[in-house]
Amino acid sequence: MLRKLHADCCEVSTPAKLNLSLEVSAQRPDGYHELETLMVTINVFDTLRFTQAPAGHLGLCNHWCVSRQHHTTPDSLPTGPDNLVLQAASLLLRTTGVSRGVDIDLFKRIPLAAGLAGGSSDAAGTLVGLNSLWNLGLSLSDLSELGARLGSDVPFFLAATTAAICRGRGEIIEPIRLTTSLHFVVVKPAAGLSTAQVFQNCQPAQVPISSSGLVRSLQCGDLGRVGLQLFNRLGAPAEKLCDQVSQLRDRFTRLPVLGHLMSGSGTSYFGLCHNSQQARQLAGRLRSTHPGQVFAVQSCV
Ligand code: C5P
Repeated sequence: MLRKLHADCCEVSTPAKLNLSLEVSAQRPDGYHELETLMVTINVFDTLRFTQAPAGHLGLCNHWCVSRQHHTTPDSLPTGPDNLVLQAASLLLRTTGVSRGVDIDLFKRIPLAAGLAGGSSDAAGTLVGLNSLWNLGLSLSDLSELGARLGSDVPFFLAATTAAICRGRGEIIEPIRLTTSLHFVVVKPAAGLSTAQVFQNCQPAQVPISSSGLVRSLQCGDLGRVGLQLFNRLGAPAEKLCDQVSQLRDRFTRLPVLGHLMSGSGTSYFGLCHNSQQARQLAGRLRSTHPGQVFAVQSCV
């Protein structure tokens, strides 16, 4: 979501995502894995503010905006060249050849190393924000092609959809339309996981599970079936690498949710709730017993 504040400044809100299914079918010659995943955006947003600066200057200032409810010390955010926001800005300068500069303020709410794609969403937001600030005139499909070079999840956030099946390494997007909001309680434990390490420990499926049944259940609003069809091939390797994920699975098994799952490569874990009231109530319960960050969220429509 892009807002022009004035000629020299604009803001973009970038959502987190949850994976309702994720199947890994093969390792590819390029080192990535072939996957099929159903992703939905949720209403936890980072905000990026872009302000014109002298040509050649790329500045980034991070601000954590963590609610007091979360009882947690925010992780430190990288501000060097490995930060995806700066990588996105540099990539735009390199590929378009324009001589521009920017100061970027990143107001961070999406936890890091969480399987919620905060970094990828910020990278997508940076491409959109700078395309506007610098009047580059690139199409969403141009931005998506650039985004795929930054990370497998980035094109999803440039697809102008709130839900999609993503294939290939994640960059081939088939938008799907959800008719109702889904309500979730999400826990990000203290530990995070490296996406690369989780994929390295994953055994691709011999007979891959398709997401088509889950899509049908979503489209006919059968939440009971949706809960039973949640699936993530990366769950087992993530649990081997991180006890906190298996502890969360045990905890969610004892909650009255419709279904539960780890998101992406972890470590966030979510439960599908009957409604927003239940999501808020369970978030309150989990907050009082669980270290880490707890969110009651809904899918964006
Ligand atoms: O694409 P991205 O930079 O987010 O991926 C991080 C790492 O996760 C990759 O370097 C790769 O090791 C692993 N990965 C994978 N297969 C995918 C996506 C990511 O093996 N489809």
